[in-house]
Amino acid sequence: MESQQKNVGILAMDIYFPPTCVDQEALEAHDGASKGKYTIGLGQDCMAFCTELEDVISMSLTVVKSLLKKYEINPRLIGRLEVGSETVIDKSKSIKTWLMQIFEEHGNTDIEGVDSTNACYGGTAALFNCVNWVESSSWDGRYGLVVCTDSAVYAEGPARPTGGAAAIAMLIGPNAPIAFESKFRGTHMAHVYDFYKPNLASEYPVVDGKLSQTCYLMALDSCYRRYCSKFEKLEGKQFSISDADYFAFHSPYNKLVQKSFARLYFNDFLRNASSVENDATEKLEPFSSLSGDESYQSRDLEKVSQLVAKSLYGAKVQPSTLIPKQVGNMYTASLYAAFISILHSNGSTLVGKRVVMFSYGSGLSSTMFSFRFQEGQHPFSLSNIASVLDVSGKLESRHVFPPEKFLETLKLMEHRYGGKDFVTSSDTSLLAPGTFYLTKVDSMYRRYYAQKVGDTATFSASLIHDNGSLVNGH
Ligand code: ACO
Repeated sequence: MESQQKNVGILAMDIYFPPTCVDQEALEAHDGASKGKYTIGLGQDCMAFCTELEDVISMSLTVVKSLLKKYEINPRLIGRLEVGSETVIDKSKSIKTWLMQIFEEHGNTDIEGVDSTNACYGGTAALFNCVNWVESSSWDGRYGLVVCTDSAVYAEGPARPTGGAAAIAMLIGPNAPIAFESKFRGTHMAHVYDFYKPNLASEYPVVDGKLSQTCYLMALDSCYRRYCSKFEKLEGKQFSISDADYFAFHSPYNKLVQKSFARLYFNDFLRNASSVENDATEKLEPFSSLSGDESYQSRDLEKVSQLVAKSLYGAKVQPSTLIPKQVGNMYTASLYAAFISILHSNGSTLVGKRVVMFSYGSGLSSTMFSFRFQEGQHPFSLSNIASVLDVSGKLESRHVFPPEKFLETLKLMEHRYGGKDFVTSSDTSLLAPGTFYLTKVDSMYRRYYAQKVGDTATFSASLIHDNGSLVNGH
Protein backbone atom coordinates (compact mmCIF):
# COMPACT_ATOMS: atom_id res chain seq x y z
CA MET A 1 0.00 0.00 0.00
CA GLU A 2 1.35 3.46 -0.90
CA SER A 3 2.07 5.73 2.05
CA GLN A 4 0.12 9.00 2.01
CA GLN A 5 3.20 10.97 3.00
CA LYS A 6 5.96 11.32 0.43
CA ASN A 7 9.70 11.28 0.99
CA VAL A 8 9.53 10.67 4.72
CA GLY A 9 12.94 10.92 6.31
CA ILE A 10 15.35 13.18 8.16
CA LEU A 11 14.53 16.91 8.03
CA ALA A 12 17.20 18.12 10.42
CA MET A 13 20.08 16.75 12.51
CA ASP A 14 22.42 17.78 15.28
CA ILE A 15 25.31 16.03 17.02
CA TYR A 16 26.91 16.49 20.41
CA PHE A 17 30.03 14.79 21.70
CA PRO A 18 31.92 15.57 24.90
CA PRO A 19 34.70 18.15 24.63
CA THR A 20 36.99 15.73 26.46
CA CYS A 21 38.99 13.14 24.51
CA VAL A 22 42.17 11.07 24.53
CA ASP A 23 44.62 10.69 21.66
CA GLN A 24 44.90 7.07 20.46
CA GLU A 25 48.63 7.31 19.78
CA ALA A 26 49.24 8.51 23.34
CA LEU A 27 46.92 5.81 24.75
CA GLU A 28 48.69 3.14 22.73
CA ALA A 29 52.06 4.20 24.18
CA HIS A 30 50.63 4.46 27.69
CA ASP A 31 49.07 0.97 27.47
CA GLY A 32 52.35 -0.56 26.27
CA ALA A 33 50.70 -1.67 22.99
CA SER A 34 52.97 -1.98 19.94
CA LYS A 35 53.28 1.25 17.95
CA GLY A 36 50.46 1.59 15.42
CA LYS A 37 48.15 -0.95 17.12
CA TYR A 38 45.34 1.52 17.88
CA THR A 39 45.99 4.02 15.09
CA ILE A 40 46.68 1.63 12.18
CA GLY A 41 45.55 -1.74 13.58
CA LEU A 42 42.18 -0.38 14.70
CA GLY A 43 42.36 2.73 12.48
CA GLN A 44 41.36 5.17 15.24
CA ASP A 45 42.68 8.69 15.86
CA CYS A 46 41.02 9.90 19.03
CA MET A 47 38.35 8.83 21.56
CA ALA A 48 35.77 11.01 23.32
CA PHE A 49 34.71 10.23 26.88
CA CYS A 50 32.31 11.64 29.45
CA THR A 51 33.73 13.11 32.64
CA GLU A 52 31.67 12.97 35.85
CA LEU A 53 29.70 15.99 34.56
CA GLU A 54 28.21 14.26 31.53
CA ASP A 55 26.20 11.14 30.79
CA VAL A 56 23.72 9.88 28.21
CA ILE A 57 20.93 11.96 29.72
CA SER A 58 22.84 15.25 29.79
CA MET A 59 24.17 14.67 26.24
CA SER A 60 20.66 13.99 24.94
CA LEU A 61 19.25 17.07 26.72
CA THR A 62 22.04 19.12 25.12
CA VAL A 63 21.49 17.84 21.60
CA VAL A 64 17.68 18.04 21.64
CA LYS A 65 17.68 21.56 23.04
CA SER A 66 20.29 22.57 20.46
CA LEU A 67 18.38 21.07 17.51
CA LEU A 68 15.11 22.77 18.49
CA LYS A 69 16.87 26.10 18.88
CA LYS A 70 19.01 26.01 15.74
CA TYR A 71 16.17 24.98 13.43
CA GLU A 72 13.63 27.14 15.33
CA ILE A 73 11.25 24.23 16.01
CA ASN A 74 8.39 24.90 18.41
CA PRO A 75 8.51 22.05 20.98
CA ARG A 76 4.72 21.79 20.74
CA LEU A 77 5.18 20.47 17.17
CA ILE A 78 6.85 17.25 18.30
CA GLY A 79 4.36 14.34 18.38
CA ARG A 80 6.68 11.38 18.82
CA LEU A 81 10.04 11.10 20.58
CA GLU A 82 12.04 7.88 20.39
CA VAL A 83 15.38 7.27 22.08
CA GLY A 84 17.92 4.58 21.18
CA SER A 85 20.50 3.77 23.84
CA GLU A 86 22.26 0.82 25.41
CA THR A 87 23.74 2.77 28.33
CA VAL A 88 21.70 1.75 31.34
CA ILE A 89 21.16 4.47 33.93
CA ASP A 90 17.76 3.34 35.15
CA LYS A 91 16.20 -0.06 34.60
CA SER A 92 12.68 1.36 34.43
CA LYS A 93 12.61 5.10 33.75
CA SER A 94 13.30 5.78 30.08
CA ILE A 95 15.75 8.46 28.92
CA LYS A 96 12.81 9.81 26.92
CA THR A 97 11.07 10.79 30.16
CA TRP A 98 14.01 12.99 31.18
CA LEU A 99 13.80 14.71 27.80
CA MET A 100 10.11 15.43 28.44
CA GLN A 101 11.20 18.33 30.71
CA ILE A 102 12.02 20.28 27.53
CA PHE A 103 8.50 19.76 26.17
CA GLU A 104 6.48 19.95 29.41
CA GLU A 105 7.48 23.55 29.96
CA HIS A 106 5.92 24.37 26.58
CA GLY A 107 2.71 22.58 27.58
CA ASN A 108 3.37 19.56 25.36
CA THR A 109 3.00 16.21 27.14
CA ASP A 110 1.22 14.59 24.18
CA ILE A 111 4.30 12.79 22.82
CA GLU A 112 4.37 9.06 22.06
CA GLY A 113 7.45 6.85 22.17
CA VAL A 114 9.93 5.48 24.74
CA ASP A 115 13.43 3.94 24.56
CA SER A 116 14.63 1.12 22.28
CA THR A 117 17.50 -1.07 23.43
CA ASN A 118 19.59 -3.66 21.64
CA ALA A 119 23.28 -2.76 21.79
CA CYS A 120 24.21 -0.38 18.95
CA TYR A 121 20.96 -1.05 17.03
CA GLY A 122 18.54 0.88 19.32
CA GLY A 123 18.93 4.13 17.35
CA THR A 124 17.90 2.41 14.13
CA ALA A 125 14.87 0.84 15.84
CA ALA A 126 13.95 4.33 17.12
CA LEU A 127 14.38 5.80 13.63
CA PHE A 128 12.21 3.09 12.04
CA ASN A 129 9.51 3.68 14.69
CA CYS A 130 9.39 7.38 13.85
CA VAL A 131 9.48 6.92 10.07
CA ASN A 132 6.78 4.23 10.28
CA TRP A 133 4.64 6.54 12.43
CA VAL A 134 4.85 9.42 9.94
CA GLU A 135 4.00 7.00 7.12
CA SER A 136 1.06 5.51 9.06
CA SER A 137 -2.63 6.37 9.44
CA SER A 138 -2.04 7.34 13.11
CA TRP A 139 0.26 10.24 12.16
CA ASP A 140 -1.18 13.53 13.45
CA GLY A 141 0.85 15.89 11.27
CA ARG A 142 3.54 16.70 13.85
CA TYR A 143 7.26 15.88 13.72
CA GLY A 144 8.97 12.77 15.01
CA LEU A 145 12.21 13.17 16.94
CA VAL A 146 14.86 10.44 17.25
CA VAL A 147 17.70 10.58 19.76
CA CYS A 148 20.68 8.18 19.80
CA THR A 149 22.79 8.58 22.94
CA ASP A 150 25.56 6.41 24.36
CA SER A 151 28.74 6.37 26.36
CA ALA A 152 30.90 3.41 25.29
CA VAL A 153 33.40 2.37 27.95
CA TYR A 154 35.23 -0.94 28.35
CA ALA A 155 37.15 -2.69 31.11
CA GLU A 156 40.94 -2.64 30.91
CA GLY A 157 42.12 -4.75 27.96
CA PRO A 158 42.06 -4.80 24.15
CA ALA A 159 38.49 -3.45 23.87
CA ARG A 160 39.22 -0.28 25.87
CA PRO A 161 40.50 1.79 22.88
CA THR A 162 37.23 1.06 21.04
CA GLY A 163 35.13 3.32 23.31
CA GLY A 164 33.59 6.74 22.59
CA ALA A 165 30.58 8.92 23.45
CA ALA A 166 28.00 11.09 21.64
CA ALA A 167 24.34 11.97 21.21
CA ILE A 168 22.59 12.66 17.91
CA ALA A 169 19.11 14.10 17.34
CA MET A 170 17.13 13.70 14.09
CA LEU A 171 13.88 15.43 13.20
CA ILE A 172 11.57 13.20 11.13
CA GLY A 173 8.82 14.24 8.72
CA PRO A 174 7.62 14.20 5.09
CA ASN A 175 9.30 15.96 2.13
CA ALA A 176 12.66 15.43 3.78
CA PRO A 177 16.02 16.29 2.16
CA ILE A 178 17.25 12.92 3.48
CA ALA A 179 14.44 10.64 2.27
CA PHE A 180 14.13 7.08 3.44
CA GLU A 181 13.89 4.43 0.70
CA SER A 182 11.39 2.51 2.83
CA LYS A 183 10.95 -0.43 0.48
CA PHE A 184 14.62 -1.42 0.32
CA ARG A 185 15.46 -2.94 3.68
CA GLY A 186 17.40 -6.10 4.46
CA THR A 187 17.37 -7.34 8.05
CA HIS A 188 19.18 -10.15 9.86
CA MET A 189 18.46 -10.95 13.51
CA ALA A 190 19.78 -13.91 15.55
CA HIS A 191 20.71 -15.07 19.04
CA VAL A 192 24.45 -14.82 19.87
CA TYR A 193 26.57 -13.90 22.87
CA ASP A 194 29.12 -11.64 21.16
CA PHE A 195 28.73 -8.53 23.37
CA TYR A 196 26.24 -8.18 26.23
CA LYS A 197 25.76 -6.48 29.59
CA PRO A 198 24.63 -9.09 32.13
CA ASN A 199 26.36 -7.45 35.10
CA LEU A 200 24.03 -4.65 36.11
CA ALA A 201 26.50 -3.42 38.73
CA SER A 202 28.95 -2.42 36.00
CA GLU A 203 28.77 -0.17 32.97
CA TYR A 204 31.21 -2.45 31.12
CA PRO A 205 30.01 -5.10 28.68
CA VAL A 206 31.16 -8.72 28.49
CA VAL A 207 32.78 -8.98 25.04
CA ASP A 208 33.90 -11.81 22.84
CA GLY A 209 35.81 -9.51 20.48
CA LYS A 210 36.65 -12.06 17.77
CA LEU A 211 33.13 -13.47 17.71
CA SER A 212 31.68 -9.95 17.50
CA GLN A 213 33.82 -9.24 14.41
CA THR A 214 32.65 -12.41 12.66
CA CYS A 215 29.00 -11.86 13.66
CA TYR A 216 29.19 -8.32 12.29
CA LEU A 217 30.51 -9.53 8.91
CA MET A 218 28.04 -12.42 8.69
CA ALA A 219 25.17 -10.03 9.46
CA LEU A 220 26.51 -7.63 6.82
CA ASP A 221 26.53 -10.39 4.16
CA SER A 222 23.04 -11.46 5.06
CA CYS A 223 21.59 -7.92 5.09
CA TYR A 224 23.32 -7.06 1.79
CA ARG A 225 21.92 -10.15 0.07
CA ARG A 226 18.41 -9.29 1.31
CA TYR A 227 18.73 -5.61 0.42
CA CYS A 228 19.89 -6.60 -3.11
CA SER A 229 17.09 -9.08 -3.59
CA LYS A 230 14.42 -6.56 -2.49
CA PHE A 231 15.91 -3.96 -4.81
CA GLU A 232 16.01 -6.42 -7.69
CA LYS A 233 12.42 -7.53 -7.13
CA LEU A 234 11.09 -3.97 -7.05
CA GLU A 235 13.37 -2.35 -9.64
CA GLY A 236 13.76 -5.30 -11.99
CA LYS A 237 17.57 -4.96 -12.18
CA GLN A 238 20.59 -6.14 -10.26
CA PHE A 239 21.88 -4.01 -7.37
CA SER A 240 25.64 -3.64 -6.85
CA ILE A 241 27.87 -1.23 -4.93
CA SER A 242 27.92 0.92 -8.11
CA ASP A 243 24.27 1.81 -7.43
CA ALA A 244 25.15 3.64 -4.21
CA ASP A 245 27.20 6.82 -4.06
CA TYR A 246 28.13 6.39 -0.39
CA PHE A 247 28.12 3.74 2.30
CA ALA A 248 27.88 4.41 6.04
CA PHE A 249 28.57 1.53 8.42
CA HIS A 250 28.13 1.11 12.14
CA SER A 251 31.71 1.97 13.09
CA PRO A 252 33.11 0.37 16.27
CA TYR A 253 36.59 1.12 14.84
CA ASN A 254 37.70 2.05 11.34
CA LYS A 255 39.50 -1.21 10.44
CA LEU A 256 36.19 -3.08 10.62
CA VAL A 257 34.65 -0.53 8.25
CA GLN A 258 37.48 -1.12 5.75
CA LYS A 259 36.91 -4.88 6.01
CA SER A 260 33.14 -4.43 5.65
CA PHE A 261 33.30 -2.55 2.38
CA ALA A 262 35.78 -5.13 1.04
CA ARG A 263 33.27 -7.80 2.04
CA LEU A 264 30.52 -6.09 -0.01
CA TYR A 265 32.92 -6.02 -2.96
CA PHE A 266 33.55 -9.76 -2.50
CA ASN A 267 29.77 -10.31 -2.41
CA ASP A 268 29.45 -8.46 -5.71
CA PHE A 269 32.21 -10.68 -7.16
CA LEU A 270 30.31 -13.83 -6.06
CA ARG A 271 27.13 -12.40 -7.65
CA ASN A 272 28.91 -11.59 -10.95
CA ALA A 273 27.98 -7.92 -10.51
CA SER A 274 29.20 -5.30 -12.97
CA SER A 275 30.90 -3.31 -10.19
CA VAL A 276 33.82 -5.78 -10.18
CA GLU A 277 36.58 -5.04 -12.71
CA ASN A 278 38.22 -7.85 -14.72
CA ASP A 279 41.59 -7.69 -12.97
CA ALA A 280 39.80 -7.81 -9.57
CA THR A 281 37.86 -10.86 -10.72
CA GLU A 282 41.14 -12.63 -11.48
CA LYS A 283 42.54 -11.76 -8.05
CA LEU A 284 39.39 -12.91 -6.22
CA GLU A 285 38.89 -16.10 -8.26
CA PRO A 286 41.05 -18.30 -5.94
CA PHE A 287 38.61 -17.54 -3.09
CA SER A 288 35.42 -18.33 -4.98
CA SER A 289 35.11 -21.87 -3.62
CA LEU A 290 35.61 -21.00 0.08
CA SER A 291 32.68 -21.87 2.35
CA GLY A 292 31.09 -18.96 4.24
CA ASP A 293 32.93 -19.87 7.47
CA GLU A 294 36.26 -20.30 5.67
CA SER A 295 35.86 -16.93 4.00
CA TYR A 296 35.45 -15.13 7.38
CA GLN A 297 38.69 -16.70 8.62
CA SER A 298 40.77 -16.19 5.46
CA ARG A 299 43.43 -13.50 6.03
CA ASP A 300 44.42 -13.71 2.36
CA LEU A 301 40.89 -12.98 1.19
CA GLU A 302 40.71 -10.05 3.63
CA LYS A 303 43.94 -8.59 2.22
CA VAL A 304 43.13 -9.13 -1.47
CA SER A 305 39.55 -7.86 -1.24
CA GLN A 306 40.64 -4.72 0.65
CA LEU A 307 43.27 -4.11 -2.02
CA VAL A 308 40.91 -4.46 -5.01
CA ALA A 309 38.21 -2.37 -3.29
CA LYS A 310 40.64 0.36 -2.23
CA SER A 311 39.82 3.07 -4.77
CA LEU A 312 36.06 2.57 -4.39
CA TYR A 313 36.52 2.69 -0.62
CA GLY A 314 38.19 6.08 -1.01
CA ALA A 315 35.28 7.45 -3.02
CA LYS A 316 32.28 5.81 -1.35
CA VAL A 317 33.29 5.16 2.27
CA GLN A 318 36.15 7.47 3.26
CA PRO A 319 33.84 10.53 3.55
CA SER A 320 31.89 8.71 6.29
CA THR A 321 34.90 7.99 8.50
CA LEU A 322 35.83 11.39 9.97
CA ILE A 323 33.73 11.50 13.16
CA PRO A 324 33.93 7.76 13.98
CA LYS A 325 37.75 7.93 13.75
CA GLN A 326 37.89 11.08 15.86
CA VAL A 327 35.23 10.29 18.47
CA GLY A 328 35.30 6.47 18.59
CA ASN A 329 32.44 4.03 18.89
CA MET A 330 29.31 5.92 19.93
CA TYR A 331 27.21 2.72 19.96
CA THR A 332 23.68 3.76 18.81
CA ALA A 333 24.99 7.08 17.47
CA SER A 334 27.91 5.53 15.60
CA LEU A 335 26.17 4.84 12.26
CA TYR A 336 24.54 8.27 12.26
CA ALA A 337 27.85 9.95 13.07
CA ALA A 338 29.27 8.22 9.97
CA PHE A 339 26.31 9.56 7.99
CA ILE A 340 26.86 13.08 9.39
CA SER A 341 30.50 12.87 8.25
CA ILE A 342 29.21 12.44 4.67
CA LEU A 343 26.96 15.51 5.03
CA HIS A 344 29.89 17.43 6.45
CA SER A 345 32.30 16.54 3.65
CA ASN A 346 29.90 16.77 0.70
CA GLY A 347 27.08 19.10 1.78
CA SER A 348 24.93 20.43 -1.05
CA THR A 349 26.59 18.28 -3.78
CA LEU A 350 24.61 15.30 -2.48
CA VAL A 351 21.28 16.03 -4.19
CA GLY A 352 20.06 12.97 -6.12
CA LYS A 353 22.62 10.65 -4.53
CA ARG A 354 22.01 7.47 -2.55
CA VAL A 355 23.67 6.39 0.69
CA VAL A 356 23.42 2.81 1.91
CA MET A 357 23.44 2.40 5.69
CA PHE A 358 24.41 -0.70 7.71
CA SER A 359 23.24 -0.85 11.31
CA TYR A 360 24.59 -3.57 13.64
CA GLY A 361 23.83 -4.20 17.31
CA SER A 362 25.38 -7.17 19.07
CA GLY A 363 23.21 -9.92 20.38
CA LEU A 364 22.29 -9.50 17.42
CA SER A 365 20.14 -7.17 15.32
CA SER A 366 21.13 -5.70 11.98
CA THR A 367 19.56 -3.92 9.00
CA MET A 368 20.76 -2.45 5.73
CA PHE A 369 18.65 0.42 4.39
CA SER A 370 19.15 3.52 2.28
CA PHE A 371 18.46 7.23 1.93
CA ARG A 372 18.17 9.44 -1.15
CA PHE A 373 19.15 13.10 -0.91
CA GLN A 374 16.70 15.74 -2.22
CA GLU A 375 16.69 19.51 -2.47
CA GLY A 376 15.31 20.68 0.85
CA GLN A 377 13.75 23.96 1.85
CA HIS A 378 15.34 26.17 4.47
CA PRO A 379 15.84 25.41 7.31
CA PHE A 380 15.64 21.79 6.15
CA SER A 381 18.20 22.04 3.35
CA LEU A 382 21.35 19.94 3.09
CA SER A 383 23.58 23.02 3.25
CA ASN A 384 21.84 24.33 6.36
CA ILE A 385 22.04 20.94 8.05
CA ALA A 386 25.79 20.78 7.31
CA SER A 387 26.28 24.26 8.70
CA VAL A 388 24.23 23.60 11.88
CA LEU A 389 26.24 20.43 12.50
CA ASP A 390 29.48 22.47 12.56
CA VAL A 391 31.56 19.30 12.67
CA SER A 392 34.94 21.03 12.24
CA GLY A 393 34.18 23.62 14.92
CA LYS A 394 33.13 20.94 17.39
CA LEU A 395 36.15 18.73 16.70
CA GLU A 396 38.60 21.62 16.86
CA SER A 397 37.35 22.99 20.18
CA ARG A 398 37.97 19.74 22.08
CA HIS A 399 40.41 19.29 24.95
CA VAL A 400 42.82 16.39 24.60
CA PHE A 401 43.47 14.79 27.99
CA PRO A 402 46.52 12.68 28.76
CA PRO A 403 45.80 8.92 29.11
CA GLU A 404 46.37 9.13 32.89
CA LYS A 405 43.51 11.61 33.24
CA PHE A 406 41.23 9.45 31.04
CA LEU A 407 41.93 6.38 33.22
CA GLU A 408 41.42 8.39 36.41
CA THR A 409 38.02 9.47 35.07
CA LEU A 410 37.06 5.87 34.27
CA LYS A 411 37.99 4.84 37.85
CA LEU A 412 35.78 7.58 39.30
CA MET A 413 32.89 6.59 37.00
CA GLU A 414 33.24 2.91 38.02
CA HIS A 415 32.82 4.01 41.62
CA ARG A 416 29.89 6.32 40.81
CA TYR A 417 28.01 3.87 38.57
CA GLY A 418 24.66 3.01 40.18
CA GLY A 419 25.60 5.21 43.15
CA LYS A 420 23.65 7.81 45.13
CA ASP A 421 24.24 10.76 47.42
CA PHE A 422 26.97 12.57 45.55
CA VAL A 423 27.57 16.00 44.09
CA THR A 424 29.68 16.48 40.94
CA SER A 425 32.48 18.99 40.44
CA SER A 426 31.35 22.59 40.04
CA ASP A 427 34.08 23.22 37.45
CA THR A 428 32.23 23.29 34.12
CA SER A 429 34.87 25.39 32.37
CA LEU A 430 35.44 22.82 29.59
CA LEU A 431 31.76 22.70 28.62
CA ALA A 432 30.41 25.01 25.93
CA PRO A 433 27.55 27.36 26.83
CA GLY A 434 24.24 25.54 26.37
CA THR A 435 25.62 22.18 27.53
CA PHE A 436 23.64 20.27 30.16
CA TYR A 437 25.53 18.60 32.97
CA LEU A 438 24.89 16.43 36.01
CA THR A 439 25.05 18.32 39.30
CA LYS A 440 24.08 15.69 41.87
CA VAL A 441 22.40 12.36 42.59
CA ASP A 442 20.39 12.47 45.82
CA SER A 443 19.71 9.83 48.47
CA MET A 444 16.72 8.58 46.42
CA TYR A 445 18.93 8.12 43.30
CA ARG A 446 17.23 11.11 41.64
CA ARG A 447 19.48 12.84 39.15
CA TYR A 448 19.73 16.63 38.79
CA TYR A 449 20.94 18.45 35.71
CA ALA A 450 21.67 22.10 34.93
CA GLN A 451 22.45 23.92 31.70
CA LYS A 452 25.53 26.04 31.36
CA VAL A 453 24.50 29.53 30.35
CA GLY A 454 26.08 32.40 28.41
CA ASP A 455 29.80 32.85 28.81
CA THR A 456 29.82 32.29 32.56
CA ALA A 457 31.70 29.21 33.60
CA THR A 458 29.51 27.71 36.29
CA PHE A 459 26.51 28.01 38.47
CA SER A 460 26.08 26.14 41.66
CA ALA A 461 24.22 22.89 42.19
CA SER A 462 22.17 24.60 44.87
CA LEU A 463 20.45 26.56 42.11
CA ILE A 464 18.76 23.43 40.82
CA HIS A 465 15.17 23.14 41.95
CA ASP A 466 14.73 20.39 44.49
CA ASN A 467 12.01 18.80 42.38
CA GLY A 468 14.66 18.10 39.76
CA SER A 469 13.42 20.60 37.17
CA LEU A 470 15.83 22.74 35.22
CA VAL A 471 16.72 26.24 36.26
CA ASN A 472 17.64 27.31 32.75
CA GLY A 473 15.46 25.03 30.75
CA HIS A 474 14.13 27.47 28.18
N1 ACO B 1 50.61 -1.92 13.93
C1 ACO B 1 49.59 -2.08 13.04
N2 ACO B 1 48.59 -2.98 13.22
C2 ACO B 1 48.63 -3.74 14.32
C3 ACO B 1 49.66 -3.64 15.27
C4 ACO B 1 50.68 -2.68 15.03
N3 ACO B 1 51.68 -2.48 15.90
N4 ACO B 1 49.42 -4.53 16.27
C5 ACO B 1 48.27 -5.16 15.95
N5 ACO B 1 47.79 -4.69 14.78
C6 ACO B 1 46.55 -5.05 14.10
C7 ACO B 1 46.25 -6.53 14.06
O1 ACO B 1 46.95 -7.16 13.02
C8 ACO B 1 44.75 -6.49 13.84
O2 ACO B 1 44.49 -6.16 12.49
P1 ACO B 1 43.58 -7.11 11.58
O3 ACO B 1 42.20 -7.03 12.16
O4 ACO B 1 43.66 -6.55 10.22
O5 ACO B 1 44.13 -8.46 11.72
C9 ACO B 1 44.28 -5.27 14.64
O6 ACO B 1 45.47 -4.52 14.89
C10 ACO B 1 43.64 -5.61 15.97
O7 ACO B 1 44.50 -6.39 16.71
P2 ACO B 1 44.06 -7.83 17.28
O8 ACO B 1 45.21 -8.34 18.08
O9 ACO B 1 43.51 -8.68 16.21
O10 ACO B 1 42.81 -7.55 18.19
P3 ACO B 1 42.73 -6.96 19.66
O11 ACO B 1 43.04 -8.02 20.64
O12 ACO B 1 43.44 -5.68 19.75
O13 ACO B 1 41.16 -6.68 19.77
C11 ACO B 1 38.98 -5.97 19.13
C12 ACO B 1 40.47 -5.90 18.78
C13 ACO B 1 38.50 -7.42 19.08
C14 ACO B 1 38.24 -5.15 18.11
C15 ACO B 1 38.78 -5.38 20.57
O14 ACO B 1 39.19 -4.05 20.57
C16 ACO B 1 37.35 -5.48 21.03
O15 ACO B 1 36.92 -6.51 21.56
N6 ACO B 1 36.53 -4.37 20.87
C17 ACO B 1 35.13 -4.36 21.29
C18 ACO B 1 34.24 -5.23 20.42
C19 ACO B 1 33.92 -4.60 19.07
O16 ACO B 1 34.08 -3.42 18.87
N7 ACO B 1 33.39 -5.43 18.15
C20 ACO B 1 32.95 -4.94 16.87
C21 ACO B 1 31.48 -5.21 16.55
S1 ACO B 1 30.41 -5.16 17.96
C22 ACO B 1 30.35 -3.53 18.54
O17 ACO B 1 30.16 -2.61 17.82
C23 ACO B 1 30.55 -3.32 19.98
